[in-house]
Amino acid sequence: MRTTVGIIGAGPAGLLLARLLRNAGIDSVVLESRDRDYVERRQRAGILEQGTVDVLREAGAGERMDREGLRHDGIELRFDKKRHRVDFPALTGGRSVMVYAQTEVCKDLIALQLKEGGPLLFETEALAVEGADTDRPRVRFRREGVEDVLECEYVVGCDGFWGVARKAVPAGLARTFERTYPFGWLGILADVAPSHDELVYARHDRGFALLSMRSPSVSRLYLQVPAGTDAEQWGDEEIWAELERRFETADDWRLERGPITQKSVTPMRSYVHEPMRHGRLYLAGDAAHIVPPTGAKGLNLAVGDVVTFARALVHRRETGSEDLLDAYSATCLRRVWQAERFSYDMTTLLHRAPDATPFEDRLATARLERIASSRAAETDLAEAYTGFPLG
Ligand code: FAD
Ligand code: DHB
Repeated sequence: MRTTVGIIGAGPAGLLLARLLRNAGIDSVVLESRDRDYVERRQRAGILEQGTVDVLREAGAGERMDREGLRHDGIELRFDKKRHRVDFPALTGGRSVMVYAQTEVCKDLIALQLKEGGPLLFETEALAVEGADTDRPRVRFRREGVEDVLECEYVVGCDGFWGVARKAVPAGLARTFERTYPFGWLGILADVAPSHDELVYARHDRGFALLSMRSPSVSRLYLQVPAGTDAEQWGDEEIWAELERRFETADDWRLERGPITQKSVTPMRSYVHEPMRHGRLYLAGDAAHIVPPTGAKGLNLAVGDVVTFARALVHRRETGSEDLLDAYSATCLRRVWQAERFSYDMTTLLHRAPDATPFEDRLATARLERIASSRAAETDLAEAYTGFPLG
């Protein structure tokens, strides 16, 4: 098999890249190890930055998002039983975010790709990228038990943190930066209307809690739990009681309960692989970087990477210049490190480490009080949350 761009992974990065290339008249083949059903059900991100929303619309993939997505103009910070709303449009010159689940973004992009795009091969596992430093990179893959090779002009590794693409970068040419956190998120989906019309990020002595949503009738909630926690350790009653404690306010706000339909634990890490390119192999999304989910940045970064790659390839075709392709890694990394910084700040601001000292607790409260009382500090948060511009 032969194509211009071989794409490994059909998460948001790989699927959107295939769509952007198709719209530019560039052919691609997407290889995805899992089946379609699995990819469409995997519960993950929920928040799309303004820039991501614009990209999906321009790519012709925004129709259902515009119908069913929920525009959010702010978030609530909750601490010491107090509530503080951050008003995004007022602080950023009109920007907002969209609540539209990653599962839905993937479903929309898969349907479009199967109808109008090039091959999207599920249950096809990439085994290795070969010849990344030549003009003819190849992806070795296995499909229905048979090994085969995809010959490409470019390979983009969109295969997430556990993928194979990154391994094709020689260790001596790469540098990685990593931090793991001593806690994770227990996430639930519940069939109950969200108890607040915007997201609530709560810091509590017992740990962080987040109220989010998937639709007007489905809530998505998260609890900080110790790293390594098994979701089954938590009974439904125990989860609701803990959420109630952490979201408690001094006023009459109440958390509505409902049947829990899904439960899982996500570990938290920060990770960056530099550079994001080796020869004709480009890394995009979680394959190159991970952020802890507190700032809602992971999917949005993945979108930024593939937009940057698609633009660079179109530039190459139109002008013959490799400049933007050569600049790919540096361009993406500027934005990646801003998101790393913001995600780290949000995580340390809102979580309580198991070994936190009273001094650190007071500092976190002081940081929250500062955001609640200074327009400059609040604007900093609002700008970062609604999104950094593409480089
Ligand atoms: P992935 O979605 O991981 O996709 C990679 C794909 O590659 C997968 O389909 C995988 O099966 C496939 N693959 C792997 N190896 C191979 C192989 N060898 N061959 C073929 N295919 C392969 N981000 C946000 O922006 N906002 C949020 O609100 C947010 N909340 C989150 C909440 C949680 C609980 C979690 C876990 C994450 C959250 N994120 C959020 C992060 C976001 O989900 C990820 O950053 C995003 O999925 C990255 O997309 P991706 O396409 O790079 O990688
Ligand atoms: C969701 C996830 C996040 O990481 C976040 O910061 C906000 C919302 C969500 O899954 O809805």
